[in-house]
Amino acid sequence: MEALLARHSVAVKRLGAPGPSAAELLSIYEAATTAPDHGALRPWRLIEIGNEARPQLAQLFIDGKRRSQSELSAAEIEREREKAVRPPVLLAFVARPIANHPTVPAVEQLASAGAAMQLVLVAAHFLGYGAIILSGARCADRNVMASLQIGEDEIFLGFISIGSIVDEPRFGKRPEIHQVVSKMERLKIELREEATVV
Ligand SMILES: Cc1cc2nc3c(=O)[nH]c(=O)nc-3n(C[C@H](O)[C@H](O)[C@H](O)COP(=O)(O)O)c2cc1C
Repeated sequence: MEALLARHSVAVKRLGAPGPSAAELLSIYEAATTAPDHGALRPWRLIEIGNEARPQLAQLFIDGKRRSQSELSAAEIEREREKAVRPPVLLAFVARPIANHPTVPAVEQLASAGAAMQLVLVAAHFLGYGAIILSGARCADRNVMASLQIGEDEIFLGFISIGSIVDEPRFGKRPEIHQVVSKMERLKIELREEATVV
């Protein structure tokens, strides 16, 4: 529990070499496959972004940023580049919910994908690495999606960066437990005419 509660996301600028070894990475992927998965639909997939792809991705990030903002400072260009080239391991996490499945609604499949994402973060943390999920405009960029071969019927949930923690991370606040947990000793019975949610 101590290890689990100590997990925090680590910003890309605080990640560096070395990243997980091939064997460690495999165990991170195996951890992700333990996500609860109604109907064993495997509603997600991961793309490992290799070394040659990094500068290509950096260029796509910079081009995308330039479309929303014509003048980019050197620092802004560097920030885009860093997101693609700095993390020792960079993964694209893609949800692939089956629409209109007879028993498993798409939202349930997305919940399964979310659980798998968290397992990647937790497994990386247990191995001593820092990690973070980032989405934003980069994940909504059709050029990025197409170049990563992510289909229009898939959902690009985010990039997961993993590496050694090379700079002291800043930790965000957690919610108070009472904000997210309530207890019902007794139900307040309410009956609806249309009882089944469609
Ligand atoms: C799918 C997904 C996408 C996210 N995208 C971003 C993002 O683009 N930018 C950002 O600052 N945080 C993003 N976050 C939140 C961070 O990954 C992280 O959870 C947050 O900073 C809280 O840190 P913690 O994990 O230490 O609680 C995203 C989280 C999820 C689940």
